[in-house]
Amino acid sequence: AFRIEDFKREIVDGIRETVGDRQVVCGVSGGVDSTVLAVLLHEAGVNVRAIFVDHGLMRKDEGEEVRNNFHRMGVPIETVDCAERFLVALDGEDDPEKKRSIIGNLFIDVFWDAVGDAEMLAQGTLYPDVIESASNAKSKASVIKTHHNRVARILELQAEGKVLEPLAELFKDEVRALGISLGIPADILNRHPFPGPGLAVRCPGVVTQERLDIIRECDAIFINQLKEQGWYDKVWQAYAGLVPVKTVGVKGDERSYEWAISLRAVISEDAMTADWVELPYSILRETSHRILNEVKGINRVLYDVSTKPPASIEWE
Ligand code: XMP
Repeated sequence: AFRIEDFKREIVDGIRETVGDRQVVCGVSGGVDSTVLAVLLHEAGVNVRAIFVDHGLMRKDEGEEVRNNFHRMGVPIETVDCAERFLVALDGEDDPEKKRSIIGNLFIDVFWDAVGDAEMLAQGTLYPDVIESASNAKSKASVIKTHHNRVARILELQAEGKVLEPLAELFKDEVRALGISLGIPADILNRHPFPGPGLAVRCPGVVTQERLDIIRECDAIFINQLKEQGWYDKVWQAYAGLVPVKTVGVKGDERSYEWAISLRAVISEDAMTADWVELPYSILRETSHRILNEVKGINRVLYDVSTKPPASIEWE
């Protein structure tokens, strides 16, 4: 604990020194990293604007939850709602890297439009993000994926010395410890990680409103079940991803021809490797039962038993 307290002071001092009297903006997503970042900046007492871009690729009721959480912590945030713009921009695109790049670029455009002419940008980049992005740049053979916070525009800003990344030396568990020492409520710190491009990376192929809605409903049922059964805090991450392949089934007296949904729950230390979780069958059974009965468009539920590597945690 002593280390993290020292570290907090060091980071806060560093922020004050680097920022000076400039205005710094940061994006908040509701995730642990950007929340800790925003609270750190608030704590440092610098001139900060925290902006929440709701790209419509969030989980069920997530926007509302994020606003409530920040309200609860007394940290003001501004919301930009642009779900429609993202859907239009993604229309018809099915290539994973192109989808990431569309989302990343539009995110930065929207964010930067909202920001206007702020003098600095703060990002909640962690150590593993730094490593993965670096290996992307170095080796064509091991192009993992383009992290949305490392797209070209950000690199330009970085070159101008306008990007502040106070968490760049930390692993996830250290960020959580920092969050505790900042007084951030445990339920916020214990939220599962969620990728910047949101549900788009859990929706292989084209992204549509219908697909997103299905993923959201299934995901909410699964996560709710994990929370009720006391498993949410035992896993690193869990989600429902769409398998946009139609198979034949029977619903009521009718033949159905619908998509499948895949449930994934993993444990991990730092997201570099991961193992799938041996969830109790009762959780899988109840989740499957509810999805098959409540979610239109799904007639098959699968459980993902793939380790990382070779699979990744997300689907794209
Ligand atoms: P993968 O799928 O690469 O995911 O095994 C590793 C961890 O990173 C999260 N992830 C992202 N986080 N922006 C983020 O901020 C992204 O573009 C992104 N892609 C994946 C993923 O949820 C997992 O925790």
